[in-house]
Amino acid sequence: MVKIENLKADELISVLKLVQNTYGEFNLNEGSKKAVLNYLAVHDSKNVSELKPFFLGSTFVAKINNKLVGMIRVQWPDKIVQLFVDGNFHRKKIGTKLIKKVETEFLKKNAERIYIRASLFSIKFYKKNGFFETEKIQNYKGLKVQPMQKILDCC
Ligand SMILES: CC(C)(COP(=O)(O)OP(=O)(O)OC[C@H]1O[C@@H](n2cnc3c(N)ncnc32)[C@H](O)[C@@H]1OP(=O)(O)O)[C@@H](O)C(=O)NCCC(=O)NCCS
Repeated sequence: MVKIENLKADELISVLKLVQNTYGEFNLNEGSKKAVLNYLAVHDSKNVSELKPFFLGSTFVAKINNKLVGMIRVQWPDKIVQLFVDGNFHRKKIGTKLIKKVETEFLKKNAERIYIRASLFSIKFYKKNGFFETEKIQNYKGLKVQPMQKILDCC
């Protein structure tokens, strides 16, 4: 069974490894070589101390039998910054569970929409979860992103 929990400080290195490995497997062709390498370098576990303030309090993890298999990081009150599910566990609705968790949390903060700069790989996933494209694909820090939104149903 999948459990969704708040990220604990001693799990951040595992999260960074998940981000690097999953990005390396599915998103490498989504920008300039320089930007992609920079994204991987930023998430290196040697940066764990510097990254702590950006992840703690704003990241949820998905676990199966205590193994970390997914993460979602937000910017309160209404933006998704990162969402990664271990490739060995794709298409098992773990990404959907992580989205639902942040939807609940955003609603508690009275958000009306969710905003995301989606990776090209994830566009179909977000559409399936009720998001729609708001603009054309954009270049964000050298990476191709699809701006998307979802309107939250509060009541
Ligand atoms: C995008 C991602 C988080 C989806 O996670 P997931 O747990 O596999 O997604 P789910 O199982 O909840 O998928 C729900 C539905 O979305 C759609 N979907 C998910 N992945 C898809 C894919 N690769 N291609 C087409 N549709 C997809 C399907 O309709 C799926 O339902 P189905 O399996 O019954 O057909 C995962 O693929 C991932 O980590 N990708 C690499 C990193 C990335 O691009 N992250 C997004 C950053 S913004």
